[in-house]
Amino acid sequence: MTTQFSDKTAIVTGSATGIGAAIAHRLAAAGASVMLADKHEEAVHAVCAEITAAGGRAAACRVDIRIPEEVQAMLDYSRDTFGPANILINNAGLGSQKHFLETPLTTLQQMLEVNVVGTFLCAQAAAHDMIEMGGGRIVNFSSHSGLLGSSGRAAYAASKGGIIAMTRAMAVDLAQYNITVNAVAPGPIDVQRNRDQHSDERRDAWHRAIPLGRYGEPDEVAAVAVFLASEDASYVNGQTISVDGGFTAAGLRVKQL
Ligand SMILES: NC(=O)c1ccc[n+]([C@@H]2O[C@H](COP(=O)([O-])OP(=O)(O)OC[C@H]3O[C@@H](n4cnc5c(N)ncnc54)[C@H](O)[C@@H]3O)[C@@H](O)[C@H]2O)c1
Repeated sequence: MTTQFSDKTAIVTGSATGIGAAIAHRLAAAGASVMLADKHEEAVHAVCAEITAAGGRAAACRVDIRIPEEVQAMLDYSRDTFGPANILINNAGLGSQKHFLETPLTTLQQMLEVNVVGTFLCAQAAAHDMIEMGGGRIVNFSSHSGLLGSSGRAAYAASKGGIIAMTRAMAVDLAQYNITVNAVAPGPIDVQRNRDQHSDERRDAWHRAIPLGRYGEPDEVAAVAVFLASEDASYVNGQTISVDGGFTAAGLRVKQL
């Protein structure tokens, strides 16, 4: 345990699993009081129990980030438990994979509702706490799909590209309150969902396309999100940081030149 965040309260959405759980673990290990929030109540309490068993300060609640009343209840619970939040990690998100011509309107609506509306609602509610605290950090979650045109990603890309644009605009509006807003854009990460869903062929295609030749680990993304939430990132604002092993930096790659 370290003390870098010992005077901070952080809310981490989507922390029942994957990258969000890794971020919650990292923030708690650095001394933050962490409110874990997810639509999967049992799973998010299980991650919270791991953190408290390791000596961290954490609590958990169920939230559906699409619903304003539930988002406000999450903020209120966090404030009652730990005091006003200084940090929001807007990590909860949903993916979709379907050819553009076969993507139903309902899928696009679902992506926008969770990824864009949910991110918007959590940030707006948390910003009020942060203004009261004299500042704060908001870290949103985009994706490589918000930057490049991957196949089968039209609906998801619309939502993750929207998060990049919204991050910039939020950063401009909230700077006067000493709140920074940045985004992380992960490449493929070795979370359980990807282990379950990615075929060998798809994994091979990723390995070939990524200069580092492998998927990222959840903790490698968590490290960057926690940096953006720290005092060290005080002059980083409105940016989207790719954590993708060089995937979005790459052009033509010839092994033997
Ligand atoms: N894992 C990757 O390869 C990858 C790549 C690019 C971007 N991302 C983004 O990073 C973030 C985390 O990814 P992950 O792989 O850990 O995801 P994940 O699917 O493992 O976890 C996402 C969490 O968000 C929660 N969630 C979904 N909808 C919610 C809602 N309406 N209200 C509350 N909670 C909700 C889920 O229950 C889940 O626990 C997401 O925003 C994702 O889009 C992930």
